[in-house]
Amino acid sequence: MRLTGYGLFCISLLNWAIIAVSIDPPSQDVWYRQPDDIDRYAKGEVIRSRQVPPQLESFLSLPVNVSVKTITQYLFRTTDNLGNAVASAATLIEPFNADSSKLLGYQTFYDSASVDCSPSYTIRAKNEVGDFGIPKLNVSLDIAFMASALNLGWYVLTTDYEGLDAQYTVGLQSGHAVLDSVRAVLKEGSEVGLSENLQYALWGYSGGALACSWAAELQPAYAPELDFAGVALGGLTPNVSSVLDTIHSGIYASLAYRGVYGMAKAYPNLTDWMDDNLLPSKSDEYYEIAGSCNGKTTSQDLYSFFKNEAESFQEAVPRSVFSWSGQMGVHGTPGAPLFIYKAVGDEISPVADTDYLVNMYCRKGIDIEYHRNLVGNHETEGILGSVGALEWLRERLNGTAAQTGCHKKDVVLASIDKGTVPILGETLFSILQASIGGML
Ligand SMILES: *[C@@H]1O[C@H](CO)[C@@H](O)[C@H](O)[C@H]1NC(C)=O
Ligand SMILES: *[C@@H]1O[C@H](CO)[C@@H](O)[C@H](O)[C@H]1NC(C)=O
Ligand SMILES: *[C@@H]1O[C@H](CO)[C@@H](O)[C@H](O)[C@H]1NC(C)=O
Ligand SMILES: *[C@@H]1O[C@H](CO)[C@@H](O)[C@H](O)[C@H]1NC(C)=O
Ligand SMILES: *[C@@H]1O[C@H](CO)[C@@H](O)[C@H](O)[C@H]1NC(C)=O
Repeated sequence: MRLTGYGLFCISLLNWAIIAVSIDPPSQDVWYRQPDDIDRYAKGEVIRSRQVPPQLESFLSLPVNVSVKTITQYLFRTTDNLGNAVASAATLIEPFNADSSKLLGYQTFYDSASVDCSPSYTIRAKNEVGDFGIPKLNVSLDIAFMASALNLGWYVLTTDYEGLDAQYTVGLQSGHAVLDSVRAVLKEGSEVGLSENLQYALWGYSGGALACSWAAELQPAYAPELDFAGVALGGLTPNVSSVLDTIHSGIYASLAYRGVYGMAKAYPNLTDWMDDNLLPSKSDEYYEIAGSCNGKTTSQDLYSFFKNEAESFQEAVPRSVFSWSGQMGVHGTPGAPLFIYKAVGDEISPVADTDYLVNMYCRKGIDIEYHRNLVGNHETEGILGSVGALEWLRERLNGTAAQTGCHKKDVVLASIDKGTVPILGETLFSILQASIGGML
């Protein structure tokens, strides 16, 4: 590994001008290296931190100024799916004129089994945009919503929740990493101005919601000292087996390749199963898709890469792993109030799975607002529902208590509420509104 890991070099012997030339991806950057004595660190303890330049390539693609004063990255200790101590990275962004009492843990849908697609890197470097982007701008929706939060004066924390091994779809790893990143920031954040009496909340869509939802379920047992003002979850994927059944072929198939590969990284027996079941003649092609960032797509059926096609997935190993590690609602009961939004026409995760999860949560007495949008699909709901989530989070972060009880309703949202202009800003509002027009 090269030691010029920070992509910086100095010119001029007198004036130490520093010019950013290129940023090394995590696989090449020594900063991400996990210490050998990782199990001596406490959960959420910071291993190392660094400041990186506040000019984020991804934000520069937006036609709005995004308020970014400082960016601090943390490498911290968390716990993987099998209970081992592992390291993971997170990025804390401080806006100008920040409200020191508000922190949003925004989890991106990076949906990839390669560490070089992790948000700590991709928000800094120009990167492929996946399925859910703003078409005209070639920028991910995640970026637009993080920008909105920063422009509201909130601190934004985004976590590489899949860990250094990029274990995409792996629930326990993802949830633990989100919780430990919040712990790390609660301890260290005062150095960048976060106040002691902080309100903090979580938000994610799709793959980002997977991480937030597992974090919410695991929090009472794993991080009982944390007290989230709210958790907003959009486009949930409560049952990974059911997602595989739904998208093993078609336009979202590449997500299924990456999900299976990501899960296999967490389980030696699933890796063995994959090695035994992948057709040798198609294995290179499988890994090319499975190891890519979110931008790569394919319409080839995932099952056609496996010896016994769909039957391969019915074997004991994949069944045991997916039903334990890919199923929400069985690892704990969220303590925080939830805002859940979902398009009834979601083509990645059937709405029935989310209905089932919400009913289970409601029976357990969680405070929930659940909006089922009768309009649109997984992609459009990422805009239509997310705008409502931003409003809901604004109330949670300013200290207003969530509605108590379980509230489910069908909504008919086909455009963005004009009332959100002050939250989103004129420009983002218009861009998002125009994107919806093109998608529905
Ligand atoms: C961004 O801010 C700069 C400096 O204040 C200003 O000149 C520019 O017009 C702004 N750009 C947008 C798109 O608002
Ligand atoms: C979007 O940006 C990425 C990264 O720069 C580039 O590879 C891709 O070709 C761009 N796509 C479009 C449609 O402009
Ligand atoms: C998850 O989905 C699989 C595949 O559709 C199904 O067999 C299983 O019963 C589902 N689990 C739950 C808890 O709904
Ligand atoms: C695969 O490994 C996991 C983790 O060790 C274990 O829980 C599961 O039961 C195993 N599956 C089978 C079929 O042995
Ligand atoms: C919080 O925000 C909501 C909605 O914008 C507003 O009604 C409420 O008064 C605010 N509460 C505080 C304490 O600022």
